[in-house]
Amino acid sequence: MIEQKDMKEYTIETLAEKLDTEFRVKETVDPAMSRFVPMVYDPIDYDWKSEFEPEFTQYFNGLMITAEEDLPVGKIWLLSFLNDYMLEDVLEKSSKGDMIFAHHPVQMECGDPREGKEWGKGFIPINPEIIKRIKEKGLSIYTCHAPLDAGSISGLGTNESLIKMIGAKQIDQYMEYAHGYAARICEVPKQTVQELIERLEIPNLDYIDIKGNKDLDREITKVAIIPGGGGNVRDIQPAEGFGTEVVITGQATCRIAGERGERENKALQEFYPQTKMTLIGLSHAGSEYPVMEDIAKWFKEKFQIEAEAIPENSWWR
Ligand SMILES: [Fe+2]
Ligand SMILES: [Fe+2]
Repeated sequence: MIEQKDMKEYTIETLAEKLDTEFRVKETVDPAMSRFVPMVYDPIDYDWKSEFEPEFTQYFNGLMITAEEDLPVGKIWLLSFLNDYMLEDVLEKSSKGDMIFAHHPVQMECGDPREGKEWGKGFIPINPEIIKRIKEKGLSIYTCHAPLDAGSISGLGTNESLIKMIGAKQIDQYMEYAHGYAARICEVPKQTVQELIERLEIPNLDYIDIKGNKDLDREITKVAIIPGGGGNVRDIQPAEGFGTEVVITGQATCRIAGERGERENKALQEFYPQTKMTLIGLSHAGSEYPVMEDIAKWFKEKFQIEAEAIPENSWWR
């Protein structure tokens, strides 16, 4: 006898409604994406206000593109950023009715902190041609930015996933963001910095950027987590006030080309010899990838929908 699982079918609207509640999407006008979406799409004359869902253009989170036909959601593909080359990959592998879940509604080039490597362009628009093909294929896109950094009702979040990965316990937080905070202060069982680094398993991450205190053999118990963030002294320095010994973040270095990036980088270079903390950079997108795997698991368990998180093949780009 073939066992029939009790499979509920969700249309994109019914699923999006559940996601809006889980991620508390309508409590916030995204403080970052409400600036970055116009910043990247206006200069290329892309009419994002009419191309993206009306509610998305209000909150800058939630359902961004809706498949025209009312099909049950097939498979969910999860990405940190909607980078063109990854969308090309999803376009190839997906079927009509599938959904893309992403943390950011844009592309990102954070640059490579290694000596002599190219600096990144920062946030950039998705190629409009690719957006058109996504619509034509009947895929939907749902994005969730600041509310995911603050953490969801069931405890899904960019911070929560890293906390779980290193076996930490949150004791404080700072940097107010959406309905919560973007940076967390945690305790970990006594271990060396090197041992902590070994717990940070990001698929395909070929380089970890270590700045500040380079004594990796010392024992520590207090860690700050700022997923996706860093890249400037403002985000990182307040961690010192909590007695933090190690900061795990996206960018321990700033490698965004341009006047602002150079200024942030200069301030960071001056900060490294002054701080007792070790700063660990996992790349912007890499530090925000573990939550994609956790949400994929949640989609499968809670909704019985097939889901797959896709890591970048090169995080430092
Ligand atoms: Fe984030
Ligand atoms: Fe981010």
